[in-house]
Amino acid sequence: MTTPALRLAVYPGSFDPITRGHEDLIRRAKSFADRVIVAVAVNVAKQPLFTLEERVALILQAVEDPSVEVRSFDGLLADFARMAGATVIVRGLRAVSDFEYEFQMALMNRNLAPGIETVFLVPAFDLTYLSSSLVREVARFGGDVSQLVHPAVQKALRQKFGK
Ligand code: PNS
Repeated sequence: MTTPALRLAVYPGSFDPITRGHEDLIRRAKSFADRVIVAVAVNVAKQPLFTLEERVALILQAVEDPSVEVRSFDGLLADFARMAGATVIVRGLRAVSDFEYEFQMALMNRNLAPGIETVFLVPAFDLTYLSSSLVREVARFGGDVSQLVHPAVQKALRQKFGK
């Protein structure tokens, strides 16, 4: 009898910062993967609010689960996922507006790493509107983000914006 291969999911993103929506997706990924690696992109398109080290530290505080690994990656996601031995790349789909970009990215990643499937997960209903950019904006102007992020993230946002 052969032992079934372990299913390793890579969940990539900017996580600037991690939100309750990301946390929800990590939980969902764990339901079908043996191991989950949260992969934090070093080079994000825009200047991030949090440094790479801060983003990683906040994920570790928000997730606190030994079966979830947090790693940073530079360069192509497809290369990182292949090197890590991933079988799936997990991405969240919140709204139709996410679809085109996500679809392009999934096709490109399949082109670059044919053995790895992208799996789209739908977040909890009350988290569908949530994004890191909205959280940053609300926090920047002193709005309440306590329902949207882990307390450690809320504190880090307050410190960033001197509130
Ligand atoms: O949280 P985000 O900003 O939507 O995450 C986007 C991310 C980091 C997953 C994407 O930009 C990415 O994979 N960047 C790494 C570089 C890469 O592989 N680009 C080609 C993607 S097809």
